[in-house]
Amino acid sequence: MNILQINASARREGANSTRVANSIVARLQAANPGASLTLRDLSGDPHPALDEAALGALFTPAEQRTPGQAARVERDDALIAEVQAADLLVLGVPMYNFGIPVQLKNWIDAIARNGVAFRYTETGPEGLLTGKKVYIALARGGRYRGTEADSQVPYLKTVLGFLGMTDLHFIYAEGLNMGPESAAQGFAQAEADLAAAIAVN
Ligand SMILES: Cc1cc2nc3c(=O)[nH]c(=O)nc-3n(C[C@H](O)[C@H](O)[C@H](O)COP(=O)(O)O)c2cc1C
Repeated sequence: MNILQINASARREGANSTRVANSIVARLQAANPGASLTLRDLSGDPHPALDEAALGALFTPAEQRTPGQAARVERDDALIAEVQAADLLVLGVPMYNFGIPVQLKNWIDAIARNGVAFRYTETGPEGLLTGKKVYIALARGGRYRGTEADSQVPYLKTVLGFLGMTDLHFIYAEGLNMGPESAAQGFAQAEADLAAAIAVN
């Protein structure tokens, strides 16, 4: 059993999404003794954006790449290999300006490689990163669960589903910037969501 934890907060210290993600990992490790844990810290080790140079490297045949292009593609390869090896993924995801952090977008852009993470067939797209359970720790200053302002959950369902990851469990820590009582309630709700997610599996 391999667990892959992705921390997407811009903060290395004191991140609420990381706190909830850590709590999820602790529960999963307790339920799966001996499980290995790989930590991908996108704050401490930010992944580069998908820019013109990166696209150029990806679309250059491997044997024609410059050393710089090869190194850029290898950085994406490493993230893809981590996902391929994982049985369980735990994503720590803050809400920034109603969307996902750029750190997580860069990770998604890195792993969503045509022919590796998905492919198009005559009947449509097929996700290739299958057989994985994904827990997503959502940390928010306000409360947006189930509202139209929550673009994160529909987006993550769409893009992770496109890549073959359809067994998704969203854990909500909301209202974290609305005073200490609200924050305590938000973390308690996350624990309740987690207990419910683990109980049904
Ligand atoms: C730049 C920035 C933008 C934010 N945008 C939102 C937002 O759109 N909606 C919201 O509810 N909270 C927003 N917040 C609050 C964060 O979601 C909240 O502080 C959360 O706990 C951050 O997670 P983290 O501690 O893991 O980084 C924002 C915080 C920052 C720093």
